[in-house]
Amino acid sequence: MGRRPLRSFFLSDGVRRPVGALLDGKVMTRRRHVTTIEPQLKRILAAALLCSALPAGAADLEAGRAKAEAVCQTCHGMNGRGIAAMVANIGGQQKQYLVKQLSDYRSGRRQHEQMSIIAAMLTEQDIDNVTDWYSRIVATFEIPQ
Ligand code: HEC
Repeated sequence: MGRRPLRSFFLSDGVRRPVGALLDGKVMTRRRHVTTIEPQLKRILAAALLCSALPAGAADLEAGRAKAEAVCQTCHGMNGRGIAAMVANIGGQQKQYLVKQLSDYRSGRRQHEQMSIIAAMLTEQDIDNVTDWYSRIVATFEIPQ
């Protein structure tokens, strides 16, 4: 190949546009060539731009829901509300906080007879997924009247 990556192009009106404008799908001229952007190419370009915007190994919310259903809900419920006095409320908690606690249980830095065992069964991806589920729950707070 050896060609420089396409940064900008000219539309048929002669105006230089950034490559993102390719998604307009209009007829364009680049140097002296005239190209029509096919819908298929448009989709590929859109997907490529979208992928480059997402962090690698993004959390999977559906997998998080499944893990919560299979393991966590017995004690934390699907909404993250602890079912007993000594079970933490985790619904609507900051993701970063939840990830830290689960990682600490897993490493032994934080210990609890139940959570240490449960966290040891989770992979890093499980933690990413299940904390996505619980942190995305919308919880509201009201001060005492
Ligand atoms: C058998 C009951 C039980 C199950 C099942 C369970 N937990 Fe827990 N969880 C607890 C209890 C009890 C605590 C409070 C532990 C403590 O005091 O350190 C806790 C604490 C936590 C904390 C720390 C909360 C905080 O505010 O520091 C997180 C995060 C957590 N659980 C996530 C999970 C996730 C995710 C799952 C499913 C993969 C899960 N738990 C499954 C009982 C359970």
